Amino acid sequence: MKILGIETSCDETAAAVVENGTRILSNVVVSQIDIFAEYGGVIPEIAARSHLEAMMPVIDKALNDAGCTWDEIDAIAVTHAPGLLGSLLVGTLTARTLAILHDKPLYAVHHLKSHVYANWLNEMRADAELIFSDAGLEFLNTSYTGRPGEPPLRGEPLGAGRNIRVKNSNQTFMHPRETSSAARHPAFPLLALVISGGHTQILYMPEHNTFEIVGTTRDDAVGECFDKVAKILGLPYPGGPSIAKAALEGDPLKYKLPHPKVEGLDFSFSGLKTAVLRAVQKEVGVPISYPSHKLKELLSEQQVRDFAASFQKTAVDVLCEKLKMALEKYPDVQSVVVAGGVSANQALREALPEAYFPVPSLSGDNGAMVAAACYYEILSGVKPTDPYKLNIYPRISIEK
Ligand code: KG4
Ligand code: ZN
Repeated sequence: MKILGIETSCDETAAAVVENGTRILSNVVVSQIDIFAEYGGVIPEIAARSHLEAMMPVIDKALNDAGCTWDEIDAIAVTHAPGLLGSLLVGTLTARTLAILHDKPLYAVHHLKSHVYANWLNEMRADAELIFSDAGLEFLNTSYTGRPGEPPLRGEPLGAGRNIRVKNSNQTFMHPRETSSAARHPAFPLLALVISGGHTQILYMPEHNTFEIVGTTRDDAVGECFDKVAKILGLPYPGGPSIAKAALEGDPLKYKLPHPKVEGLDFSFSGLKTAVLRAVQKEVGVPISYPSHKLKELLSEQQVRDFAASFQKTAVDVLCEKLKMALEKYPDVQSVVVAGGVSANQALREALPEAYFPVPSLSGDNGAMVAAACYYEILSGVKPTDPYKLNIYPRISIEK
């Protein structure tokens, strides 16, 4: 079964064709990062308009790269929740129109579910180009049209000269951590740590397509916290990759930052951001009334690196702590999967060597994960939605 997945929930316009929920035939992502780097964050109105421009070329390219005609597409899957209202509208209206035009079943997929299912995407076309990086084996997507010459999506910097390119000519590629086909996919029941710019949740998944929220953030998402701390430190948007990069040369033990005091399995990241702010103010010797956007002028490069490293370590420690608590609460859990933009973080990957992570280029928003999630929805008996009625839900929970 070949599914066209469409994703426009935030600032990536993406489409992909995936076969049987695991095999990537194409994956096209146009990122608006360059536009929003200038503003220091996403402007919803601009995001929606950019999606409008990129949407059809991205879909055409995804079909072309996959070598598919519309006849060969079995279903269309689109993100309908949660996300930015205008952004979601562009993707869903496009998907609805195409479903009617080409008479295809249409499926509406929850964004967090899609992120989780990025962990099932472990095969790719035989002619995909592979690279080895510090983060493991990645595929250099021929159809990646984001930032030419840069690492795919928002993955960690790969380090010039250290990558070995491999042209994989005649076999199907599998996820590097998999040794036998029986162990190819995470086993149920599992815990999923979904960490992105908009969400921080631990989900319990007894089987495919069934989610129970075990813990959630009470305020900011962890990715949002990376973005806000980066702003304080004068590092560019998006904050996650720039903090990870600065942290490489920083001392993670230089500044002691308190762990948020939230009982149980919920998270709170707004306090951690404030703790960084206070620590920076103290370090440079200004009162708390000092304008935060001017702090960066008073920090040395090394101080920025040390703050980045100390903050990153604290955020990673907090995530791991809660995950450990969740594992104690659910002793039947067979595997842990990590997903969402922040799952690209290398320090987190190192802290959780037993967990499943998507290949870094699939950590951020993409269409392939939408198609993968849709495939497992279909296997679970989910029926297509009415293309004339499909609605968007900017804030709906995964449990609904
Ligand atoms: O999943 P995603 O692409 O979009 C949302 O659904 O929100 O996640 C974006 C978030 C941003 O906050 C970004 O700073 C963060 O993921 N991120 C990272 C890294 N790469 C992206 N955070 C930490 N380390 C990274 N390497
Ligand atoms: Zn996302």
